[in-house]
Amino acid sequence: MAAPLQFVHSFEPASRPGLSPLLLLHGTGGNEDDLLPIGRIISPGAALLSPRGQVMECGMPRFFRRLAEGVFDFEDVHRRAEELADFIAAARDDYQISAPVALGYSNGANIAAAILWLRPQTFAGAILFRAMVPLDRGPEASLDGLPVLITSGLRDSIIPVQNSIRLAGLLSAAGAKIEHKQFPVGHELSQLDIVAAQHWLAHNNLGA
Ligand code: MLT
Repeated sequence: MAAPLQFVHSFEPASRPGLSPLLLLHGTGGNEDDLLPIGRIISPGAALLSPRGQVMECGMPRFFRRLAEGVFDFEDVHRRAEELADFIAAARDDYQISAPVALGYSNGANIAAAILWLRPQTFAGAILFRAMVPLDRGPEASLDGLPVLITSGLRDSIIPVQNSIRLAGLLSAAGAKIEHKQFPVGHELSQLDIVAAQHWLAHNNLGA
């Protein structure tokens, strides 16, 4: 019998063929249920895999430790990204799904970016809502044309847009096919993010 999967998670099987599964990664204080409605809207009928972050900050789940807002514990980011990539590989076996498209928000987008740094073959693509540079050196592997959508809020007080621009540049230099959208919004998700994600999935043949 396969070992039990190491993250608390939700899984919804696909109800339509031919769509990339989505890996949903919540923000600080969220859980595995948070992004399911957004996943269903962005790619109706796709399989949804949604783990809960294993780090607790004052009772709020996260995907890695930070020393202060925007100041990451890089050793922990590295270790947690490897653990999450291992979970995704095991869950793909258990649920018989293909490589997912990561769809992360805030802290969830940052751990997805860290996996792009370390094990990019984990994903068929990535949608990073409100992401920043996750590690203190450049990506370790070639991203080999992997499609990545980054959306930033020009009024985001938590993630400065300049940081997302640097993230886009580093991923692009490592070979990712980057699309970076900047919207006149704050840290919260908006309809503009949802529509951009829908178009990007369709344009890259990863969604309907
Ligand atoms: C992080 O810690 O990943 C970022 O600062 C975003 C957040 O507040 O979660």
